[in-house]
Amino acid sequence: MKTRLLVSALALALATTAFASKEKPVIGLSLDTLKEERWQRDRDTFTAEAKKLGAEVIVQSANSDDTRQVRDVESLISRGVDVLVIVPHNGAAMTRAVKSANEAKIPVIAYDRLILNANIDYYLTFDNVKVGEAQGSYAAARLPKDRKARIVRIYGAPTDNNAKLFKQGQDNILEPLIKAGKVEVVHEDWALDWKPENAKKIMNAAITKAGRNLDAVVVSNDGTAGGAIQALLEEGLAGKVLVTGQDADLAACQRILRGTQAMTVYKPLKNLAGLAARVATEVAKGGKPATTSTLDNGAKQVPSIFEKVISVDKENLNATVVADGFHKAEELK
Ligand code: BGC
Repeated sequence: MKTRLLVSALALALATTAFASKEKPVIGLSLDTLKEERWQRDRDTFTAEAKKLGAEVIVQSANSDDTRQVRDVESLISRGVDVLVIVPHNGAAMTRAVKSANEAKIPVIAYDRLILNANIDYYLTFDNVKVGEAQGSYAAARLPKDRKARIVRIYGAPTDNNAKLFKQGQDNILEPLIKAGKVEVVHEDWALDWKPENAKKIMNAAITKAGRNLDAVVVSNDGTAGGAIQALLEEGLAGKVLVTGQDADLAACQRILRGTQAMTVYKPLKNLAGLAARVATEVAKGGKPATTSTLDNGAKQVPSIFEKVISVDKENLNATVVADGFHKAEELK
């Protein structure tokens, strides 16, 4: 009798713990940075959405520091979160932190950026190759056809797997033109940590090396486009050279209307953040949400979902970014 009582008390205790965790799951969100405007929006939308679903979110941001991000994830693990959602600063450096999560049996979702060679459960992102293709084809369609076009290419952070996918998408469009002798890349480089000041330096180096006679600068995001445009401004070239971007940052949308940046790629963050909040909550409750694709991260075929992206210039800015409520028309003036 005594034993039976003890057993049922134990069963009840276990059930209560499991129940408590399922009713109000705790999600650990580890961000690389909050530097670019988008990540603050990702955090806010994700947190609000998760809250609506009854989950609690603990957020950490690592200020582009791998050691700090590994520590952040380890602290979330020791706080006993039910699931981890990670935007890695460095897709390779996070492998170690995922190992700790695996040992603690905490599922891991890579958000926006892939974590390499690690046993992660999901990868939720935008179609990053399509982002690069949108940038490449926007520029390609507007290059001079009567002579060899001269372009500069500024890639993102080499530590970010996305930066490679953006380049891959751009290559899909630009390589055939380069091979056919229609386009010449006069200068190219990677902007460490996606810093605008690094992009500015690359643009300055391009002008010093190749001169002012440039047709386009294919840049991978709006932050670094801002740095490149600053260098062009100082040379009196802003607005004369086509510049691409990504993220539909407020400053970039203003530059598009002013004519110093030609285009950006709009990624509806509410779609990705909302999706991630739903997947994370379901996973925390022991569910197995369905996915639409897989992606090889070096360790496994990771169940993945790729959200759609939209190419934006001054012609469709209102019909996309503004109509979607991403920015208000009056903020863009
Ligand atoms: C994201 C971009 C962002 C960049 C810099 C990339 O991984 O996909 O949206 O601009 O990182 O933070």
